[in-house]
Amino acid sequence: MTITPRTLPPPPVENDLLPEPSPDAAFLARLALRRSTKVAHLTSPGPEGETLDAILRLGARVPDHGKLGPWRFIILSGDNRHAFGKKIAGLLSDRGQVKDAERLAQEEGRFLRAPVVVAIVFSPVESPKVPEWEQVLSAGAVCYNLLLAANGFGYGGCWLSEWVAYDRDALALLGLSPQEKLAGLVYLGTPTEAPMERPRPTAASRVTHWQP
Ligand SMILES: Cc1cc2nc3c(=O)[nH]c(=O)nc-3n(C[C@H](O)[C@H](O)[C@H](O)COP(=O)(O)O)c2cc1C
Repeated sequence: MTITPRTLPPPPVENDLLPEPSPDAAFLARLALRRSTKVAHLTSPGPEGETLDAILRLGARVPDHGKLGPWRFIILSGDNRHAFGKKIAGLLSDRGQVKDAERLAQEEGRFLRAPVVVAIVFSPVESPKVPEWEQVLSAGAVCYNLLLAANGFGYGGCWLSEWVAYDRDALALLGLSPQEKLAGLVYLGTPTEAPMERPRPTAASRVTHWQP
C-alpha cells in the first residue's frame, strides 16, 4: 500500500472530536519491532515536499505542558547539506583544531550521509508554570515521534547528536540563538537493509512496584 500525505486525516483543529483509543494490532507490532536505521544504511530518496511536511506535522504532535511548543525544526537537504558541512569543517580548521585533510573532508560530508537531516531545536519558553525540564522532555518526544512518523511513510531514521550538538559556534552557524539547544539531528532516508535487533534493557529490569 502506498502511503501519501493525502492518506492521512486532515489536520484536526481545536475542539474537533478525535477518535478514542482502540485496539490496533499493526500499530502495536510497529512499536514492538521498530528500530532506528544506522546512518550508514540510509540512502536516497528521502522524504520531501508534502511528505516531509506531514512527517514534521505528525512529529510535532507531542505532549507539551502549557502548549508552549518549545521546539522548532531546521531542515538540511540538497546542496545545503554540503554547504553546512563546509561551514563546520571551516570552523574546525579556523580554530586550528583539525588540520588533517581527510578528516576535514569527512566533516564536509557529515550531513551528506542521508538525503534529509532534520535538526530539532529546543527553544525554551519563559514560563512561570512549566519548568524547563518539562520543555526539554517535550522536545525529546518530538525527536522520537518524528522517527515514528518517518517509519509510517516507509523511511528509516536515526537520531544523532555528535559533536555539532554541543559546539556553540557550530550551533550558531546552524541558526540557533544562545538560549537554544539542539535536541537532535534526525537523519532520514530509505533504508538499504533491514535493521537487526540490538541489546536493550528489558522493561521488567527497570520496574519496581511501589509499596508503603
Ligand atoms: C539524544 C540522543 C542522541 C544520540 N546521539 C548519538 C550519537 O551522537 N551517535 C550515535 O552513534 N548514536 C547516538 N544516539 C543513539 C542512536 O539514535 C541509536 O542508534 C539508537 O538509540 C538506536 O536505538 P533504536 O534502534 O531502539 O531506536 C543517540 C540517541 C539519543 C536518544
